[in-house]
Amino acid sequence: MTTTSKLWGGRFSGELDALMKRFQDSMPFDIRLWDVDIRGSVAYAHAIARAGIITTSELQTLLNGLSRVRSEFAGNTFLVQPGDEDIHTAVERRLTELVGDVGKKLHTGRSRNDQVATDLRLYTLEALNHVGVASRKLQRALTDQAEAHVDTLMPGYTHLQRAQPITFGHWCMAYVWMLQRDAERLRDCERRAGVIPLGSGGSAGNPFAIDRGAIAIELGRDREAISQNSLDGVSDRDFIAEFLFCGALIGAHISRLAEDLVLYSTAEFGFVQFSDAYSTGSSIMPQKKNPDSAELARGKAGRLFGNLINMLTLLKGSPLTYNKDFQEVQEPLFDTLDTLDLTLEVMSGAVRTMRVNADRMRAALDPAMLATDVAEYLVRKGVAFRDAHHLSGRAVALAEERHIGIDALSLEDWRNLSPYFSSDIVGVFDFGRSVNSRDVTGGTSARSVREQVGKARALMAQEG
Ligand code: ARG
Repeated sequence: MTTTSKLWGGRFSGELDALMKRFQDSMPFDIRLWDVDIRGSVAYAHAIARAGIITTSELQTLLNGLSRVRSEFAGNTFLVQPGDEDIHTAVERRLTELVGDVGKKLHTGRSRNDQVATDLRLYTLEALNHVGVASRKLQRALTDQAEAHVDTLMPGYTHLQRAQPITFGHWCMAYVWMLQRDAERLRDCERRAGVIPLGSGGSAGNPFAIDRGAIAIELGRDREAISQNSLDGVSDRDFIAEFLFCGALIGAHISRLAEDLVLYSTAEFGFVQFSDAYSTGSSIMPQKKNPDSAELARGKAGRLFGNLINMLTLLKGSPLTYNKDFQEVQEPLFDTLDTLDLTLEVMSGAVRTMRVNADRMRAALDPAMLATDVAEYLVRKGVAFRDAHHLSGRAVALAEERHIGIDALSLEDWRNLSPYFSSDIVGVFDFGRSVNSRDVTGGTSARSVREQVGKARALMAQEG
């Protein structure tokens, strides 16, 4: 029996330069693929048995061996050897140690090219699911806050200028819907990530008439979920690009949430206060309580964007088919998964435990924010909106000139502006009324926000 520590030792006589070895070994990071790699090997062992390459008893030996290798990884007792250049090499090496020469039959017709492509797809499917679960946690934290604050009035902003009164519940739900789109995007990616390329061989296809549909079924997919071109099969990494894009967009959404909360937690706003569990102090300024959780969450967007750009850059210059450059896609994939996992978890905690200061929110409301409502009042009296907008603008200007609130103008002032104003104009200056008048689907009224909460909860429950 000839053994070599390398999978490709046959045509080589010289040793790999030590630095080159370090440069090319992926074991330090692709060890994370052990579970999917073994799953792929189990499916492949069945496939070559079905094709008559190995006997039923050889299949059993391989399956027993793979199961032992699995236990070693699961129990943290797997010993990585210096020759294990990647996870595929390591699993096969150990399998052959455990079961003898039959271990060397497993790779018949298979290449690390279709193997790693399959592993990464299985891993990405898990990652998509994992991020979905983590982002649902944040959605739920925001939905709970929304429900508790359907009547908590606050200013809504455009251009970061006070625009119209809204409720804090409505604000929370805006982020829930953002994350809901992300959840749907993650789901959609599964269809393309879950296409199995095993059976593409090194690049040209498998010569042993294996049943690729059966492999797909073995791996939890439909019979039809197999790649249709072996060249594309071994070199398609689009599903990782898609995952990284989803991750980048989730990063952008978390960052917007974080930015709002950083602002709202300042003394100037005072709308929310992070719990001690999610803030830190200053080493020199004893009074400080910094919103580090949200700041870091905002900062993490940078690496999530970077991982996507990294991936796209790797792809763009890659000739068909497999190129070793592809090994470089793994770390961005792992990093996006880990980053989102942690960030979503921390932000869920921060949102769940933050104190909402309804009084400060209420105090930040300015009657001028009801200028749109004044125009709407006139519209209800039959004035064309453009004219109504102009008249309301003049009321704002008049109040400003007098250094009083728009709600302090006298009936005479209003009547001087337009005979359409009458004593019931005072009723307009009620923030709660304004909010609850926006009662359409998607509006800020308490009823609408409750409706949003209900719909979002139902959608999240479907996802599990
Ligand atoms: N570690 C490699 C990767 O991640 C496995 C595939 C190696 N294939 C090859 N032809 N050298 O891409």
